Amino acid sequence: MRRAVCPGSYDPPTVGHLDVIVRTAALFDEVFVAILVNPRKQGLFAIEERVEMLKEITADLPGVQVESFSGLVVDYCRDRGAQALVKGLRGATDYDYELPMAHMNRHLTGVETLFLPGAPGQVYVSSSLVKEVARGGGDVTPFLPASVHARLVERLRLNPPV
Ligand code: PNS
Repeated sequence: MRRAVCPGSYDPPTVGHLDVIVRTAALFDEVFVAILVNPRKQGLFAIEERVEMLKEITADLPGVQVESFSGLVVDYCRDRGAQALVKGLRGATDYDYELPMAHMNRHLTGVETLFLPGAPGQVYVSSSLVKEVARGGGDVTPFLPASVHARLVERLRLNPPV
């Protein structure tokens, strides 16, 4: 059984994240979408909400499971019997950020990291940019799965930027 982990913050999940998950699911028998619980960083969405959003948008993908995790991603991979981490690369900045982690994770447990090139039309899409544009009143409809977009609009309606 080939198992992969797609780790991330997913605050919120974008169409770029979903693209990587879909492509990973086509390559592996099982995929664990793993949301990092980071006590040092408070997100716009609670971890439970991110789990719900990711479950909604991956519901029709066989073999995909969504979970949160704490601690090191290599330990999570070992617990789930996953041989690989899969990450999307939008460009050189992502590569520079991801490469040391890939080396470190392989050093720690031997887990491999596979990089998928971001879909050409989505390389400028990130959770942080989407939140910034949405807070400023810009239209972020194309960058989010519909159910995630609806949650973001509602979140900003209830907590308007000051
Ligand atoms: O979506 P992000 O914020 O770019 O995801 C980063 C993430 C969660 C993949 C990365 O920070 C991570 O794997 N954190 C878990 C803690 C860990 O294992 N740190 C050592 C990495 S070498």
